[in-house]
Amino acid sequence: MKNKILKRLKNSDDFVSGEKISQEFNMTRSGIWKYINMLKEEGYIIESIPRKGYRIISSPDILTLQEIENNLSTEFIGRNIYYYDTMDSTNKEAKRIASLEDEGTIVISEEQADGKGRLGRNWVSPKGKGIWMSIILKPDVEPVKVGAITLLGAASVFKGLKKMNIVSEIKWPNDILISEKKVCGILTEMSAELNMINHLIMGIGINVNLDEVDIPDELKEKATSIKIEQKKEIDRKLLLANILNEFEKLYIAFKDDGNVSKAIEICRENSVSIGREVRVIRGREERIGKALDINDRGELIVEFDDGKTESIFAGEVSV
Ligand code: BTN
Repeated sequence: MKNKILKRLKNSDDFVSGEKISQEFNMTRSGIWKYINMLKEEGYIIESIPRKGYRIISSPDILTLQEIENNLSTEFIGRNIYYYDTMDSTNKEAKRIASLEDEGTIVISEEQADGKGRLGRNWVSPKGKGIWMSIILKPDVEPVKVGAITLLGAASVFKGLKKMNIVSEIKWPNDILISEKKVCGILTEMSAELNMINHLIMGIGINVNLDEVDIPDELKEKATSIKIEQKKEIDRKLLLANILNEFEKLYIAFKDDGNVSKAIEICRENSVSIGREVRVIRGREERIGKALDINDRGELIVEFDDGKTESIFAGEVSV
């Protein structure tokens, strides 16, 4: 009901009288008052004038469905959002609920106390400054085809930023860089049987409005935020909606037969890795080579110093 009242107020430029709301939603004036107060607590500034009614003055910077839906054009990605103020890790929560939820469901938290990065690292996730989200996916493809799905995430973050005139580059397979520093990482986790995927969790972490002080000293050389690079605050709600819109387009092509050609094209054309020296870390082994291309399966083609060329399916690659 709270969200219905919010929608009603958002859809009107003028005051909406208490009487109108109470008739439309069949509720008492004190009931309306209770919901208005709840909205105020969430950060909505609502003007209320006797005999005129209620009017929204401004909305808070929060990543709820109600705040992004005006810009969201998807059919199923992000249409069901579990929104939290704080939690351990959105990937962990998405895993807990994945079997019960439809694909496209998203877990978003304003802050993560135990954000997970790849290779067991932590992911710094300060409150209200980033986009920390996990998308639940249930594609009908064989588990072997799933390696390239991370590229869908990277391509959609790249395109979402581009839509806001923000130039970035993709570091295969799952980082987005601005001025050679990381602003986004993706952690894809899978629950599968031998020939069937139960679910995939695509965790996307974007350093949107972090300030210098939010980035730990030991990461400063390699990590930055969009705000630091653009020297201005970024509209998180619009960026989130843009990314989800782009993601759904790419995911629809993938979900039935594993087609990732469009995402690969985007990653290839905007790759920071191709033509550069890369370090390929596999388990304890570390080798230096030159990235030549991304093949049609989404693998990175690397020529090593001994002259051998290999396609790298996954593993840590540093520029
Ligand atoms: C990386 O190491 O580059 C991947 C980072 C992934 C971070 C995101 S933030 C949202 C989601 N929840 C997590 O705990 N991790 C991912």
